[in-house]
Amino acid sequence: MSGTVVVVGSANVDLVVDVPRHPGPGETVLGGRLRRSPGGKGANQAVAAARAGGADTWFLGALGRDGAADLLLESLTGAGVHEDLVALSDEATGTALIWITDDGENAIIVAPGANSEVAVDDAAAARLAQADVVLVQLEIPLETVVAAARARRDGARFVLNAAPSRELPPEVWAELDLLVVNEHEARDLAPAAGALGSNDAAAAAGTGERAAVGPEDLATALLEKVPAVVITLGGDGALVAERGADPVTVPAPKVTAVDTTGAGDTFCGVLAAALAGGAGLADAARLASAAAALAVTKPGAQAAVPTAEETADLAKEPA
Ligand code: RIB
Repeated sequence: MSGTVVVVGSANVDLVVDVPRHPGPGETVLGGRLRRSPGGKGANQAVAAARAGGADTWFLGALGRDGAADLLLESLTGAGVHEDLVALSDEATGTALIWITDDGENAIIVAPGANSEVAVDDAAAARLAQADVVLVQLEIPLETVVAAARARRDGARFVLNAAPSRELPPEVWAELDLLVVNEHEARDLAPAAGALGSNDAAAAAGTGERAAVGPEDLATALLEKVPAVVITLGGDGALVAERGADPVTVPAPKVTAVDTTGAGDTFCGVLAAALAGGAGLADAARLASAAAALAVTKPGAQAAVPTAEETADLAKEPA
């Protein structure tokens, strides 16, 4: 095990139903049997950093005093994540309502509950100051995102997975060392980076005549604001872009998707762990891409995170 990662974020109990198709407004769709499993972008990423990435990993989050908290703590500790920075709240543990269609695609609604109370106290600040990588998402208060970033030591990397999509205040942009987004999130954030022309900005935001604004254009725009960007491209892998270097596309191994829930989280957790262990960004993204590919082949979020050995084996195979 090498490198230390602190993941700051949400923990949710995922309530999951398979559906023949997504419901439209005002519509009721009959689904399959209800499943209940550990999730939340933060907890998923912590499990991935520890299990698939092999890093010494802390999770800073908040849970309710309820049965869902037990489910999450069991999953976190089972993966080897340190849970001494998990606070207990009078709010209920966060809950995600998830429905999944036959092709593995999902739609998710989150009731944040205790996640709204995730905060950086003295013990958390001390741990954050020892991390090699601080990894955060956007299911927690933005003040906490900023506080976590500011608590890192010089030379540590602040990685933001800007999911779910939210407008970022200048204090967050100012702290970013690495932004990890999918294409939708990149389109939401690129206009704020200010480097797209007005037509391209409208197109990127999906509000204008659609010009061809591809991942490379989005990455170029985002690099105006952040030193490095990874745009995940689902089955097409990921685009890795760093200031002053040519962008690189890392492939995703071909797999049959059963459930894509948490695949992006697996990517982020493994990426953070590899960076904490000293890997370069493109190599870390290659490993992350293999882990995410394995994650979509099984149901559930944390339950689908592969082991470090499975990830390393798949990453070695030619794409
Ligand atoms: O990224 C997947 C996760 O998003 C789910 O586990 C759900 O809890 C929501 O946070």
